[in-house]
Amino acid sequence: MNPLSELRHLLGLDSLDSEQLLALLERAQEFHCPAGEPPVMHDLLRGKTVANLFFEPSTRTRASFEIAAQRLGANVLNLDMATSSTAKGETELDTVRTLEAMNVDCFVIRHKQDGMQHWLAEQVADHVSIVNAGSGHTQHPTQGLLDMLTIRQHKPDFHKLHVAIVGDIRHSRVARSAIHALSLLGVGDLRLVGPENLLPATDENIPGEPFTDMDAGIRGCDVVMMLRIQKERMSDSDIPDAEEYHQRYGLTLPRMDLLADDPLVMHPGPMNRGVEIADEVADGPASVILEQVNNGVAARMAVLATLLDR
Ligand code: CP
Repeated sequence: MNPLSELRHLLGLDSLDSEQLLALLERAQEFHCPAGEPPVMHDLLRGKTVANLFFEPSTRTRASFEIAAQRLGANVLNLDMATSSTAKGETELDTVRTLEAMNVDCFVIRHKQDGMQHWLAEQVADHVSIVNAGSGHTQHPTQGLLDMLTIRQHKPDFHKLHVAIVGDIRHSRVARSAIHALSLLGVGDLRLVGPENLLPATDENIPGEPFTDMDAGIRGCDVVMMLRIQKERMSDSDIPDAEEYHQRYGLTLPRMDLLADDPLVMHPGPMNRGVEIADEVADGPASVILEQVNNGVAARMAVLATLLDR
């Protein structure tokens, strides 16, 4: 039986088992089109309509969902939330119901409130799918997928990997989805590196060995995932000084010498150059940051094709 045949929504990677995650990664790899090559256009979702509802800003996720839906033959609606009737007080549910009445089949939703997509998924009609494009600080499942796809293309044996996630993990939905996916794939060594106040609270029981010393945390790692400081989820007094942060937790050229041979440097974007990552590293030979962006289209094609072509 196809492990994905029952999947109707993608709300978080925590609702998948390893077989489903691997099946999604296989499907994404089939859709992969390297930058610079002409993309293959598909007919799988001809007649379906996908609506992008981004209640928080986005460049990569929104653009890649739009491109992914178009490559699968779907119609795409990008509702500009700033000029939509939500600005007049319309609720999220009324917005969804309004578009559902226009025969939208799938809502791709980013929202600052944890659980909003889960709640909306309980309200929509049976044939309608919800995809979480980022919720609060807890879930960003398609980012987790594209990150695993990128690692797997270079280093397929997760059991052997030493991976460090560095920066503001406490406020990062990217980190939580990556940690969940890495755990499902059996990563050998997972380290969480950052200042004490930006590491996950201990009562969250997030897997991974915590480090407050960056050099110790990244030593010998095959993969380093850098994160930006999520200022929008912090009070002003918690925001660290950018220069001091760069010295203590920035991935710089000298620090690259601490990593294993042939390392991968990852960042979900948007980057704060000169804060969590130096220009020479972001644009250097170990960086797979633009490969992550490219893989975002394939990962999102896999999700939309799975949910809408059941
Ligand atoms: N990584 C990511 O979610 O980027 P955007 O906010 O630009 O979508």
